Amino acid sequence: KGSVRVAILGLGTVGGGVYKTIQNNRETIRKRTGYEVEVTAILVRDLEKERLLDIDLALLTQNPEDVLNGELDVLIEVMGGLEPANTVISQALRSGRHVITANKELMAKHGAELLAIAEEHGAHLLFEASVAGGIPVIRMLQGYLTANRVKGISGILNGTCNYILTEMARTGREYAEILEDAKALGYAEADPTSDVEGYDAAYKLAILTNLAYDAKIDLRQIEREGITALQAADLELADRHGYAIKLIGSARESQGGLQLSVRPRLLPKSHPLANINDVFNAVTIQADVVGELTFSGRGAGEFPTASAVIEDLTALLTGESAIRRPVWKRIVNEGVYEPNTQP
Ligand code: NDP
Ligand code: HSE
Repeated sequence: KGSVRVAILGLGTVGGGVYKTIQNNRETIRKRTGYEVEVTAILVRDLEKERLLDIDLALLTQNPEDVLNGELDVLIEVMGGLEPANTVISQALRSGRHVITANKELMAKHGAELLAIAEEHGAHLLFEASVAGGIPVIRMLQGYLTANRVKGISGILNGTCNYILTEMARTGREYAEILEDAKALGYAEADPTSDVEGYDAAYKLAILTNLAYDAKIDLRQIEREGITALQAADLELADRHGYAIKLIGSARESQGGLQLSVRPRLLPKSHPLANINDVFNAVTIQADVVGELTFSGRGAGEFPTASAVIEDLTALLTGESAIRRPVWKRIVNEGVYEPNTQP
């Protein structure tokens, strides 16, 4: 069918994984989609930085205008932060380019506006990698659970915290020390406060809830507590009594509307989420027809996240993403969530 020209914003943990996957799986992608993927530009902050991957340095630029004015069909945003990501993505969508992002903070705070811009300009904005790494939970909510009414969502939504809690319980080491390992493994955010204080999980919970309920969650609605007050002794005590401590994000329906929280919880070891360890995430969705569905897999890291990004790319190329167009449109049209409104 030809080639698709892709520019990547960011060449860190995720950007590196995306670039390598495009190179390593080029033939598979071509066979499945009919398209040759051509990387035309990569935006970085520091051109002088040593890059530990085999790459044509001529592709690198520090100037977003080079990316937007260059040969571009699909923009992949994996640099993080609100700016310049928000501006560059908006400009790309306004010029009819499709965008794929892994940026949960941006989607949780500005997703509705960006999706509206995409809709207006006939472009797609895909964000599978923004929640739960390699687990295709966005696709599940957008493209599959369409006749079901979602009744609740709960899950382990931050790989860094789950890795830290698992290691604290296993080794008795304290969180600050294990956080250094999580950073080295590429799991943590550029500012890991976002992980350990529960903001990252709250962004993901907001994205899932927006999708599941056609809602527009204000992040202040989410009760949030991180893992920094926990000590290895707490995990050891819990373990002795048959419990695990996990950072759980949860959206539950109640009389007053949706109750949203991210906080450490004691789970009996028989609970399915109690056995999700290391960097794994898990998301349980309760729905009225199907009942309970749980998905688990690696929630952070180079290749699990690159997998979600590249699956979005192939969904675009095969036309599967058409199913995603109307998502969140209603948010913009109807404003805030009302608890008993059927989507
Ligand atoms: P990194 O810090 O490893 O990489 C960020 C990359 O973006 C770097 O290449 C950096 O350039 C570039 N960059 C950052 N800011 C700018 C800027 N202002 N202008 C130009 N380039 C910039 O981050 P990650 O790869 O870990 O994360 C990227 C995104 O993916 C974030 O939104 C994160 O939340 C999300 N994500 C991360 C996951 C993970 O497991 N790490 C999983 C799921 C989502 P330079 O190399 O020159 O410093
Ligand atoms: N820092 C995030 C985490 C990356 O640890 O879950 C994946 O979104």
